[in-house]
Amino acid sequence: MAWAEHLAERFPDQVDVRPDDVFGAPDVAAVLAGLTDGELVYACGPHGLLDAIADHLADRKRGTLHLERFSPVDAEALTSGGQAFRVTLARSGGELDVPAGKSILQVMEENGIPVVSSCREGTCGTCETAVLAGAVDHRDSILSDEERTANETMMICCSRGLGPGLVIDA
Ligand code: FES
Repeated sequence: MAWAEHLAERFPDQVDVRPDDVFGAPDVAAVLAGLTDGELVYACGPHGLLDAIADHLADRKRGTLHLERFSPVDAEALTSGGQAFRVTLARSGGELDVPAGKSILQVMEENGIPVVSSCREGTCGTCETAVLAGAVDHRDSILSDEERTANETMMICCSRGLGPGLVIDA
């Protein structure tokens, strides 16, 4: 909303500002009714809205929907330590032991390995890292169930290795 006026002026045919207090909650089905195959949806906002959008687009091709949540879906999962595990860093070389209660990102930083991050709670996607091998306990609020099953990336600020053999592109 901070940019609403500016965007509406600059792109009058492409921006439709509909505050809830004026128009009520958006009708997700109506808003997305004209979406064609190949078009992408980027959404941020409260969990209820984002869940409704995700449900509505559940049958769409993978990668259609991109969400940014303002808070973790499961904040408790972020603080429950999980099991200790070892991670192999394919690019940096070497292995790190990640204890319960710490993230891969924290342990990399402690070992002087630069890593870009922002929210550090699995909501922004800044730390998304390719998974080259191994199972992941996904704890972020970004990846879809399908993306989690594909196991191609993980958010190293919160998600953890499950068992031995986790190798990431870091
Ligand atoms: S730093 Fe935001 S998802 Fe990891």
